Amino acid sequence: MPPRKRPFIAGNWKMNLTRGEARTLVAEVIRASRSLPEAEFVLFPPFTLLAEAASLTLGSPAGLGGQNLFWEDKGAFTGEISGPMLADLGCSYVVVGHSERRQFFGETDETVQKRTSAGLRAGLRPIVCIGETLAERESGRTWDVLKRQLDGGLAGFEDAEFRRLILAYEPVWAIGTGRTATPAQAEEAHAFIRARLQERYGKEAAECAIILYGGSVKPANAYALFRERNVDGFLVGGASLEGASFNEIAAEAVRAYKEVK
Ligand code: PGA
Repeated sequence: MPPRKRPFIAGNWKMNLTRGEARTLVAEVIRASRSLPEAEFVLFPPFTLLAEAASLTLGSPAGLGGQNLFWEDKGAFTGEISGPMLADLGCSYVVVGHSERRQFFGETDETVQKRTSAGLRAGLRPIVCIGETLAERESGRTWDVLKRQLDGGLAGFEDAEFRRLILAYEPVWAIGTGRTATPAQAEEAHAFIRARLQERYGKEAAECAIILYGGSVKPANAYALFRERNVDGFLVGGASLEGASFNEIAAEAVRAYKEVK
């Protein structure tokens, strides 16, 4: 049985918000991060807002990460952002392999692996996203897809590297659709992922791994999802754009955590 970990609540702002809007939201999240010390809050603003968010979160419990990175550290790669650049801004995390990157920007398991490797090299903790589409689920291929994405995305990482990774299970059919995986569906997938990680890295490392759920997480479903044994936190998209809903998700996860830990 994996030990219960304090809820890890990540807000993926995607391509949203301007500086003024971000300032208000960051201030609200910082307030919540102080009043809910049991939860770990991490924000993923677009690149344009990272510097602003970094100066606001400095000295607060709220962490910061990039939504993507390129696999080279520097050079002639117009439009790209590197791991050292994110680290230099004060980021500690980076999202890799989000399904929107896979769907719209040609991300593959191989490029996920390269970006994850670059994040580790820069001292960041990559959050590696995996998840099946609706067609894959309905044709009974969910476990094959998750296995392939895990094996490809994490290829070649050794024990010490693996321990710095965070996984996010994000069924594509649940992202931005309002259709959330049921707690039982999320738990089934998370348990599958942990079992697969155990085969590769052993029981102790797999049990310590943080596995987030993402896909239409809202205040109304966060409590039931976090009660599941293998759900260690959330990667929140739409509901992270409002301080009230994001913070309520964290509060609901903490409520479940206090009951089950
Ligand atoms: P959503 O997005 O919460 O808007 O469904 C989740 C994600 O894409 O990380």
